[in-house]
Amino acid sequence: MNAQPKVAIVGATGAVGVEIQKCLESRKFPLSELKLLASARSAGKKVEYAGTVLEVEELRPESFQGIDIALFSAGGDISREYAPIAADAGCVVVDNSSAFRQEENVPLVVPEINADAALRHPRNIIANPNCTTIITLMALYPLHLKFGLRMIVASSYQAVSGSGQHGIAELEDQVRAIVQGEPVVCRTYPRQIAFNVLPQIDRFTDTGYTKEELKMLNEARKIMSLPDLQVSCTCVRVPVFRSHSVSCVAQFDKPVDADSARACYAGMPGVALMDDPAQGVWPTPLDSTNGDTCYVGRIRKDLAIPNALSLWVVGDQVRKGAALNAVQIAELLIR
Ligand code: A2P
Repeated sequence: MNAQPKVAIVGATGAVGVEIQKCLESRKFPLSELKLLASARSAGKKVEYAGTVLEVEELRPESFQGIDIALFSAGGDISREYAPIAADAGCVVVDNSSAFRQEENVPLVVPEINADAALRHPRNIIANPNCTTIITLMALYPLHLKFGLRMIVASSYQAVSGSGQHGIAELEDQVRAIVQGEPVVCRTYPRQIAFNVLPQIDRFTDTGYTKEELKMLNEARKIMSLPDLQVSCTCVRVPVFRSHSVSCVAQFDKPVDADSARACYAGMPGVALMDDPAQGVWPTPLDSTNGDTCYVGRIRKDLAIPNALSLWVVGDQVRKGAALNAVQIAELLIR
């Protein structure tokens, strides 16, 4: 890979696409050219990147000629249609959708956990995992290294940014409408999200779990190379703008205690403890918002399940849950 690659962002005007630009710029990603791609609606829009004004272009099959790395975040349908075109043009695709995550020969990568997997990408496609899965595994991987992860039982508290700009706008609009005594309009979510929580993210499957909940099971197994890992998850949308939280019970092969668990985070990149309940220290979604670090707190020996810990983790969904993780994968490619 060229050490100064030409990079394209597909979905450059979306919540994640805009954050990808911020991550590339703040991390001084050594790109030699940046192409911003979106729908025809955005073509011609001007965007500033690193002191230069760039123009958004309409995504077309020929958009990838000469591009080395394409970061996709425009939804599964666009990825299914255009990622193979980009890959055939010789470009390495880092795809933020779920379209290719379970496919063979497509690595699913969290750089702090399985960076090596990114170096083998025979189809020229690397998948960026589901945001809740990334944030949960950032908390559990350091514990897994010492105790051996066996089972996860989790409930998520997922921000509206996970639904893109439409989700963010819906929460803003509904809060404004309620404060002004006007009727609430639901466009993105099936029920009111302002001052409410919705125990459904994505479609239900015939297991009774939603597709989002099964992502945690299937993606955690693939990322951690733990085919027998047991996972039961309830994913909940909450009226928070952009950081996800996860309440998690994790069972291990070996006996665990809270102090040894806390020690596992020393020196771990991308994750930090905020765990001193006696001093009122525990992380909230706002603590991780606009930051790169996932924060873990409320670590305690689980009272109900042997060899298990209960804990709470927060992480910025747009950043570590999506844009930052994708840019870290791109960094692996040029390292
Ligand atoms: P656009 O802004 O032109 O609609 P989000 O997830 O925040 O809603 O963002 C979705 C991103 O995907 C946006 O950048 C959006 O561009 C882009 N997108 C949506 N539909 C298409 C399409 N048909 N072709 C290219 N980009 C698309």
